Amino acid sequence: MDCKGFIAFTLLVITANVVADNPCQPNQLHIAYGDDLSKMIISWSTVNDTDSIVKYGLTVDSLTLIQKGNESMFVDGGNEKRTQYIHRVDLVDLKPNTTYFYMAGGPSGWSATYHFKTMPEGEDWSPSLAVFGDLGSENAQSLPRLKSDSAMGMYDAILHVGDFAYDLASNNGRTGDEFMEQIEPIASSIPYMTCVGNHENAYNFSNYRYIFNMPTDNKKMYYSFNMGPVHFISISTEFFYFPYYGVQQLYDQYDWVKQDLIEANKPENRLKRPWIITFGHRPMYCSNNDNDDCTNHESLVRVGIPSLKVKGFEDLFHDMGVDVAIWAHEHSYERLWPLYNMKVMNGSYDHPYTNPGGITHIITGSAGCSERLEYFMKDPPEWSAVRVSDYGFLRMNVFNKTHILFEQVSDDQNGRVIDSFTLIRDRHDSYNKMNRL
Ligand SMILES: [Fe+2]
Repeated sequence: MDCKGFIAFTLLVITANVVADNPCQPNQLHIAYGDDLSKMIISWSTVNDTDSIVKYGLTVDSLTLIQKGNESMFVDGGNEKRTQYIHRVDLVDLKPNTTYFYMAGGPSGWSATYHFKTMPEGEDWSPSLAVFGDLGSENAQSLPRLKSDSAMGMYDAILHVGDFAYDLASNNGRTGDEFMEQIEPIASSIPYMTCVGNHENAYNFSNYRYIFNMPTDNKKMYYSFNMGPVHFISISTEFFYFPYYGVQQLYDQYDWVKQDLIEANKPENRLKRPWIITFGHRPMYCSNNDNDDCTNHESLVRVGIPSLKVKGFEDLFHDMGVDVAIWAHEHSYERLWPLYNMKVMNGSYDHPYTNPGGITHIITGSAGCSERLEYFMKDPPEWSAVRVSDYGFLRMNVFNKTHILFEQVSDDQNGRVIDSFTLIRDRHDSYNKMNRL
């Protein structure tokens, strides 16, 4: 039934005094940054084929601007072949540092009114983000705290570092629908930036690809975006682990990331945005006791698949002076000393995170999911600095071009900050170059 038919049907239903859900009603609203700060991507889902319109404006009672977008019919890969329509509207020409109110849908059904704030202009502002992976619809332990923090305006953006819902495709996609509703209070107002995890692998990651619209991504599952003094790069580590979905995408992704890093390292760009932060789901290193690939010396993400001439990312990231690599997958928190090729490269004994000689890795994958927490091997490797198996998430406050504060919050300990450190870099460049000086 189309939506006009539904309206006629609804009148009949109302007459019969029966309550029915409107299949043209937008749900699962979520937003993401566009490819520059004047854009915002608004996405939502409806059961039926209907309009893709966003009405927006500078006050809640003047949604006078109108932008149309498009919809894609998504057929879940499960045996029921459930369909839904994923809508996308790109708002353009937005003013910087401005709060916009919006509602999404069309004449057959409008969402509630939400609001978001655009980024300030330029690079000299201090982005604040919540960062986590492995958040499911069941046992989503950190979600109430994330909602509360978000409602208080603590975050400019969210980074969800893979593994959603457990799983987006479970129960013929209903688990994904439920999860997207659970995060809507956050994701409808704060850009919800993602990378893909192993739990999204069903049907060649199709649920993930359809649901999330990331800037310049075009469903490839790797992209980058700028936020103040930071250049973020989101990668798919899953290409390494699901080669039967295609090996070519490993070569393509590597080439794209390399080009993106070369561009980010042009002197004029690195001067403006000195921080380069990557995020991907499966870590290069970890010291959990679960035999995941990151517990091996030669994890695929780190060294690649030499037999297929597929390169890993450690050498490239090191050579390009990536400051921070954020990971998840392990349901715990682990901070690593700055390192390269298993060797600790601290800035100094007293100030390990001041001008370090290698990448700082952080693993924060314990937001909460049905698979519960994961624990650590008995004797930590020398590159492991802090390990905690609590539910929680990471706060990242980028003060300026030289200082970033990281704080891991424990939900088990009532929101206490259980680890805190400041990464300081006065000079951002290739570690190979700097370590020779
Ligand atoms: Fe995972």
